[in-house]
Amino acid sequence: MRKEDKKTSKPLWAGRLSEKPEEQAFAFQASINIDKRLVFDDIECSKAHAVMLGKQGIITKDSASKIKNELDKIAAEIKSGKLEIDTTQEDIHSFLESALTERLGDIGKMVHAGRSRNDQVAVAFRLFLKRTVPVLQSEISFAVNVLLDTAQLHVTSVMPGYTHLQRAQPVTLGYHLTAWACALQRDITRFSDALTRLDECPLGSGALAGTTLPLDRKTTAATLGFSRSTLNSMDAIADRDFAIEISSACAVTMVHLSRFCEDIILWASEEFKFIELSDSWSTGSSIMPQKKNPDFAELIRGKTGRTAGNLVTLLTLLKGLPYAYNKDLQEDKESLFDSIDTLSVCLKMFAGMIKDASFNLKRMKAACIGGFLEATDTAEYLVKKGLPFRAAHETAAKIVRDCIEKGFKHISSLNIAELKKHSKLFEEDIYKAITPLACIKARNLPGGPAPKEVRRQIRILRKKIL
Ligand code: ARG
Repeated sequence: MRKEDKKTSKPLWAGRLSEKPEEQAFAFQASINIDKRLVFDDIECSKAHAVMLGKQGIITKDSASKIKNELDKIAAEIKSGKLEIDTTQEDIHSFLESALTERLGDIGKMVHAGRSRNDQVAVAFRLFLKRTVPVLQSEISFAVNVLLDTAQLHVTSVMPGYTHLQRAQPVTLGYHLTAWACALQRDITRFSDALTRLDECPLGSGALAGTTLPLDRKTTAATLGFSRSTLNSMDAIADRDFAIEISSACAVTMVHLSRFCEDIILWASEEFKFIELSDSWSTGSSIMPQKKNPDFAELIRGKTGRTAGNLVTLLTLLKGLPYAYNKDLQEDKESLFDSIDTLSVCLKMFAGMIKDASFNLKRMKAACIGGFLEATDTAEYLVKKGLPFRAAHETAAKIVRDCIEKGFKHISSLNIAELKKHSKLFEEDIYKAITPLACIKARNLPGGPAPKEVRRQIRILRKKIL
């Protein structure tokens, strides 16, 4: 085939140019392989626009209903596979307009009155997110529920809590998992916040400065399910804050998953041995026959880098752009689609992995002995008996050093006479006060790890994610 015979579709803007676009150059600036994902959103946008054009007398009502019906047919045919998206077209908007024109002739050519691909793409992108983000939110809710179901079973399963990755104070597995659930619940609200600001319809903004045609923007906004129209058309065309905000919410959620996975990876090590991932959520080694690896948790941690990168891509894309539209904006979708897809699959993997995991409660309990996790409680025991906290802290520190010298692993290994040498305030009741479970039960403030309090936290989180 000679070069000039190769197929390139006639672009919407061909009238201005005397030559057909160079094939590779055309392919370079085309976006259909990415924005074909917006096909159904763009169809909805065109239907609303055409019906409004009919109502406003810009085209006849008959033409408007023909366009609407044909768009419905096109949507059905794409869904059933009868109509394939022609990826030689420049973008999904061009494809749909040419499909319409092929079928309806001159009537198809009427649909673009009073609009530009600039407002079209802004509307379709927002519609796509209005549809997709709630799905992500329900996937987060699912993961939160899995965490809370597991947490509920373990409100008395003691384990060490860590700061600096050093054993700090006793907590429960239920408390730890509820902490993770809190972070994910916040993520749901972060998406909701972004959706509130995103809920404005740019349709009718034209290329940047509206149109001379008497469009009814209020009606198209309402038909498409937006709460309101955008205020300023130049801003509406240039704005991609909504993409940045959703991308940011994806990146933050991924950072959360990544941190949880870091805990899981540590817990799965022989050194911790707190968690036993099910075999179906583990992999082996091609050379080391004994290996059982937490690859799923590692990959979630690894993929978090992509979502952080995608956010930086968007920020960098926008930072130097003059108002209003620039073709650079076409690069906005690929990175956000990737963040959404990545988060979605990682949430499913995370929830599945947790659901099927089992916990080594004996190991967790045993790990509460040996790090003097009861030292703060010992100091607070003395505070309750009237000693100023700083003095109590020093006494408890000296007790810890005394235990280490004697080779003891827990403050309760010292007998009462030995304890009294450190402070006369010690009585027999100290031994009951510093068992891991007693330490946990006594931390019954709102926000604390006491079993009753964690049950309350679980109840509140469940309500919040409804
Ligand atoms: N595919 C383009 C995009 O995603 C559509 C807008 C093209 N507009 C233009 N003025 N060339 O941004």
